Order: sequence, then structure tokens, then C-alpha cells
Amino acid sequence: MDLGIFIPIGNNGWMMSKNAPQYMPSFDLNRTTAERAEAAGFEFLLSMVKLRGFGGDTEFWDHNMESFTLMAGLAAATEKINLFASVALPTMEPAMVARMASTIDDISDGRFGINIVSGWNQIEYSQMGVWPGDWYYEKRYDYATEYVKIMKELWSDGVSDLKGEYFQMDDCRLSPPPKNGGVPLVCAGQSDRGMEFCAEYGDYQFIIGTGDFDQVRADAARLVAAADKSGRDVGIYVLFQITMGDTDEEAEAKWQSYKDGADLEAIKFMTGQAELDTAGATAEKITEMQGAFNLNIGPIVGSHATIAGKLDEISEIPGVKGVMCVFDDYPVATQEFGEKIMPLMKCRS
Ligand SMILES: Cc1cc2nc3c(=O)[nH]c(=O)nc-3n(C[C@H](O)[C@H](O)[C@H](O)COP(=O)(O)O)c2cc1C
Repeated sequence: MDLGIFIPIGNNGWMMSKNAPQYMPSFDLNRTTAERAEAAGFEFLLSMVKLRGFGGDTEFWDHNMESFTLMAGLAAATEKINLFASVALPTMEPAMVARMASTIDDISDGRFGINIVSGWNQIEYSQMGVWPGDWYYEKRYDYATEYVKIMKELWSDGVSDLKGEYFQMDDCRLSPPPKNGGVPLVCAGQSDRGMEFCAEYGDYQFIIGTGDFDQVRADAARLVAAADKSGRDVGIYVLFQITMGDTDEEAEAKWQSYKDGADLEAIKFMTGQAELDTAGATAEKITEMQGAFNLNIGPIVGSHATIAGKLDEISEIPGVKGVMCVFDDYPVATQEFGEKIMPLMKCRS
């Protein structure tokens, strides 16, 4: 089973908590994480594109770097590990992104791929005047289809003349091409339409893990069914938040502390409840909000052996090709995972 890391391109990673490690994103932090990931034997790294933060006491994601330029830097700083950058489609033209990908493909010697983000969070785009309009939400995967067709044509043929509903190419050229005639595409849409799109054009599909592995099984089955229909081979990567300790108790105490420190202001923004008066909210409401402090990414919490056992269980789910990890303290956890969890994973021996 492959292992990857969702690297900290935004401040504080994926935990909206005053008790979690507080840090700014930087090239140094991400390069250290990448070097340790490569040394440990991780197969891939992904950086997201996020253009608007959630605020709150932790200024959650108010500080975010740019995905392609970060990965270009990491491509030059690493040798083996695969690297994926994310594109938010409304923000960049496909011919330009295809060329950026060819360039990073060259820098990395064929280790680069793209995460296609169709774009769902209007505020990120309207703030810079590029939200296409209300029609976009319904049509986002049709738009994405034309977008990736253009990139694929440019990579494989060096030219695109595609005349579509959203894009008109006019003898558009690209050279040099990526060394393998294209770069892998990953998609992370969770809707049925998003999965159909990935089954048709993607190479890997991300699924958001949950504590209930039956839910992961059900989501993986949706992608497997879509891939059976398209007749293409698409691997599934499942996203989990890993919190480890020397014992289960130690890891659980860490996790509970992160949860107790939930940044309710940031969570209010994320869940669209900005008008909610948290001071007057019921205990039940607060507990529910605290539960979203890690963006509802499935937690795997425990000793190194407990985590290895759970990852082995996930590796058995039909269609699953790998797991992508989110950590609390990236450089430390990346190394610890490599030294103490990887050797215990039967699915990697
Ligand atoms: C692993 C993973 C990575 C994602 N990366 C991004 C990202 O970089 N930027 C973003 O705005 N959304 C990102 N998303 C959100 C998805 O692209 C997608 O829009 C969302 O899950 C909703 O799915 P849908 O559009 O099919 O309804 C990510 C989701 C997952 C699970």
C-alpha cells in the first residue's frame, strides 16, 4: 500500500485548535517534511490550493502558500518521491497549467502530477473576481472535463484545437511535453459526479476517511463502480489524520487536548454559521462544533502498533491503493511514522 502526506502548505495543517502545534507555512518546513518523508519511504506528497482562510484565534488558513511554486521547489529538493500540486480550475487557464506541469515534470524527472479541484467554495474565487457565476456549481465537472481534455491533448500531441462550451483553443501549442506524454491526475471530488469524472479522466481518487471503516468501504465501492463503467484503472487514496503516542492512552490524551482547544470562531466560519453566538450556544452545540476541529478528516489515534493495525485493515478494502496522512507536528511525526509505524505494517512488508 502506498503512503503519502498532505503537506502543511497552510498554517497549522489541518487542526483548528489552540492546543495543536501553531506554525506558519514555509518552504523550510515543507522541505524538511519532504526530505524526511523521502528518507522514510513515503511514496507521495500533495499540497492543496486554499485561497481564503477561516480566521478565528488561530487565524486558521489565513496563511497559505501557492501550490505549484511550492512543489517546483520541492521537486528540486527531492529525488524519488512523487509530488502533486493542486489547481483550482477557475483561477488558471488550462494551457498555462499544462505548461507549468511540463516544467515541473522536467524539474522532478517525471515525478509530478496534478490534483484537479473543480472549485466549490465561492468566496475563494469571488474575492479575486474569477467566480464564473452561479451556473458554475452545477456545471463544474463539465468545465473540468474540457479543461483536462485540453491539457491531455497539449501533452500528448503538442497542440489543441478544442472548441468547447467553456474554452476555445486556436492551434494552441505546447512543447516540451512531459517525459511520459502526460502527468498523472488525481481528483478529490466526493460527489457521485466527481467520482464519475475521476473514473473517466483521473489516475487516483482521494476519499475522505472516517472513523467508521464501513463508510470508507462504501465510498470506495462508489469509485470502483464508476471505474468499472469507464473501464479505467483508478487507484483510491484515503485521507486520515494520524495522532500517535507510545501508548494508546498517550495518543488519546493528545487528541482530546486538541479537541478541547477547538477554535470555535474558525469552525463557525467554515460551517457557515458565522451568525451563531458561541458564548450563548448550548453544550451540545459546542461539542458538535468541536468535533469539526480537524475538518472532519477521519482520525486514527493510538500507539504505533494500533495505527499500523488499522492501516493494515484499510489496505484490505477493495480498490484502496494507499493512505494519505495528515499529522499534528509534521517534521517530527513524519520521521516517527517512518521509524515506528511503517516497520509494523504487514501490508508493506
Ligand atoms: C485529499 C483531498 C484534497 C483536496 N484538495 C483540495 C484543494 O486543494 N482545494 C480545495 O479547494 N478543495 C480541495 N478538496 C475538496 C475537493 O476537491 C472537493 O471539491 C470536495 O471534496 C467536494 O466534492 P464535490 O466537488 O465532488 O462535491 C480536497 C479534498 C480531498 C479529500
